[in-house]
Amino acid sequence: MITLKRVSKFYDTNTQVLRAVDFSLGKGDFFFVVGDSGAGKTTLLKLMSGEEKPSKGSVLLNGVADVSTDSRVIRSFRKRTGFVHQDFKLFLDRTVLENVSLPLYFGRAGTGIKRISLFGGSVKKVVLDAMKLVDLPEKMFNTKVGNLSGGERQRVAIARAIINRPDVLIADEPTGSLDHNHTWAIIDLFQKLNLKGMAIILATHDRDIVRKVRKPTAHLEKGVLRFDTREGACLF
Ligand SMILES: Nc1ncnc2c1ncn2[C@@H]1O[C@H](COP(=O)(O)OP(=O)(O)O)[C@@H](O)[C@H]1O
Ligand SMILES: [Mg+2]
Repeated sequence: MITLKRVSKFYDTNTQVLRAVDFSLGKGDFFFVVGDSGAGKTTLLKLMSGEEKPSKGSVLLNGVADVSTDSRVIRSFRKRTGFVHQDFKLFLDRTVLENVSLPLYFGRAGTGIKRISLFGGSVKKVVLDAMKLVDLPEKMFNTKVGNLSGGERQRVAIARAIINRPDVLIADEPTGSLDHNHTWAIIDLFQKLNLKGMAIILATHDRDIVRKVRKPTAHLEKGVLRFDTREGACLF
């Protein structure tokens, strides 16, 4: 579905963040990306969502459309992928409804929504469906995100990422700020979404998660990506 071919990334001429990375994410895959802080995990994920362009090599959608060629391709990448950012990027003074529905105004692919109105029934239904998928109670619909706990905020960020029913869910250290119980609730949620057919790529530096969940793991070190497909085996 998303293929990186010999992808290198420089932010400036002296710092090479990724070196000739080959990686392929297929339908229904679940991959961990591990590596120390600064290893290039976020950069790799942003290349997969079209948020960053490769300096060398190509990022392909379904083997053909190259993200570096034109902006239409980038838009189609964005519609096919949901992104959970490391720092959530939520609007704390806005309600759960306002936060979760935001992508509906940018890309409506696959939702069946024809008319967008914040107070219209269709948006409400789609938002409630997404909230249900991430186990957020319906009564939080009009709650301001600033009044929610860390675990609840993380669920709001995930609900927003999946509202357009993406094929791929990209999550950047989604449990970084959560305690043990919330961490495992979120990991269970990702596994549940994966069982529904969503491909998942999850960056983490939490060894415990990688050891216990037993999924293929890609390890970034000094810009080089190595794989360990023995599920649950931990290279770091
Ligand atoms: N927009 C940017 N401009 C310049 N350098 C960046 C940018 N984003 C990341 N970097 C640098 O690239 C390296 C990898 O960063 P990042 O992909 O965020 O790693 P990780 O997510 O593994 O911590 C770091 O040295 C970081 O400082
Ligand atoms: Mg990062």
